[in-house]
Amino acid sequence: VSVIVENISVIGTGYLGATHAACMAELGFNVVGVDIDPGKIASLSAGDLPFHEPGLPELIRKHVTTGRLRFTTDLDEVGAWADVHFIAVGTPQVRGGTGADMTYVDTATASLARAITKDSLIVGKSTVPVGTAARLADLVAEQKNPDVDVSLAWNPEFLREGFAVKDTLTPDRLVVGTTSQADEAVLRRVYAEALNRNTPWIATDFQTAELVKVAANAFLATKISFINAFAEVTETVGGNITTLADAIGHDTRIGRKFLNAGVGFGGGCLPKDIRALQTRVAELGLDHSMRFLDEVDQINLRRRKKAVALAFDLLSQDVIGKKIAVLGITFKPLSDDVRDSPGLDVAARLFNAGADVHVYDPQGSRNAAKRYPRITYTDTLDDAVTEAELVILTTEWEEFRALTPEDLNHQVTTRRIIDARNVLHPPHWEAHDWTFTQLGRKV
Ligand code: UGA
Repeated sequence: VSVIVENISVIGTGYLGATHAACMAELGFNVVGVDIDPGKIASLSAGDLPFHEPGLPELIRKHVTTGRLRFTTDLDEVGAWADVHFIAVGTPQVRGGTGADMTYVDTATASLARAITKDSLIVGKSTVPVGTAARLADLVAEQKNPDVDVSLAWNPEFLREGFAVKDTLTPDRLVVGTTSQADEAVLRRVYAEALNRNTPWIATDFQTAELVKVAANAFLATKISFINAFAEVTETVGGNITTLADAIGHDTRIGRKFLNAGVGFGGGCLPKDIRALQTRVAELGLDHSMRFLDEVDQINLRRRKKAVALAFDLLSQDVIGKKIAVLGITFKPLSDDVRDSPGLDVAARLFNAGADVHVYDPQGSRNAAKRYPRITYTDTLDDAVTEAELVILTTEWEEFRALTPEDLNHQVTTRRIIDARNVLHPPHWEAHDWTFTQLGRKV
């Protein structure tokens, strides 16, 4: 399709969509964010986000004020207005299964195709099973008004929670899967600013674009489970898992990033993406190709159980009624997201075993309380650790990294700590008579 890009719509205003819409406005386009949930549209218009993401509320408010950004539920109006439509709805893990739930993507694409009354490009951003873009292109051709020219492109997103704005405005690379040079040219206009900075531009086909996304997340998950598998070894034979990671990380072919051993990965992406990828390749008769991801998943889940087992060991196998302070409940720092969170899992297991669990997290308690309302969430770190018999550090927020034994010595009843993210300095704690353990450290 050939269009001049002035007006952009983003369908779905969750994490990805809200960020993308605000960033497109920042790049100078007129942008509308579309969602079926009127409540969400009302709060976003006021700059209120249902999740924590540094810098994003400010950016949204800025462009609602400049008039470049608005939000609506009216897809028909958007279909007559935008030149480029980004699909940014969710693809959660199906209930009771391991594949991706494609209902939202399919429904959004079909409704959009029917609503479009001007030549335009639909660009898929959601993380999807390979083969989806080709299927959706057929769906669009079938549903669209025959008088307009509408094509489909695939443009996966690699943003990290906590750095969503930065990752969207200055990405490491841009990947676009298209079926024509004209469609690619439209996307070059959308991303002209990044291209001017020489951001790598990978123009490819649908399948590659879809696979790049899941391959990247599968690789990251594998890297984390790789080091965590070695943590299981050092726990038995001794050795220092962090030094091991540093040493192999110096090899530039390996690199140090994502080699932090600990309680493992969580969140709304890595766990579900490796499961959906296995499910998809199995459908294609290739289950053997991604079987190792099952192992990656298992290693990861074992780490949570290990953290719980260490807690039991430290409390002489009896946790009932004992106060345990769990520091960090989000799946990672700078986020309020508790989806598939290792810290929350550890807290819930200990709570279910009868421990008196007190959780402190700078951002995550509200979301965690929705899932586990009976756990105690404290407003301060102090309240969580006071009279605790055990402290467990499960998410490496800056304020926990900075903790010293002097901060806690006189609060706790017994000096025991599990550093499940390997961010504290053991000798310092041991010098103050703390029983100090880490995942990856021989007890
Ligand atoms: C991940 C990818 O990093 C993004 O590139 C991708 O766009 C995103 O998923 C997505 O598909 O939308 P995110 O879920 O925000 O981003 O989180 P990460 O920063 O990747 O961290 C994932 C988990 O791995 C966290 O629980 C973190 O604590 C854990 N982790 C990370 C480790 O246990 N060790 C490490 O060395 C690194």
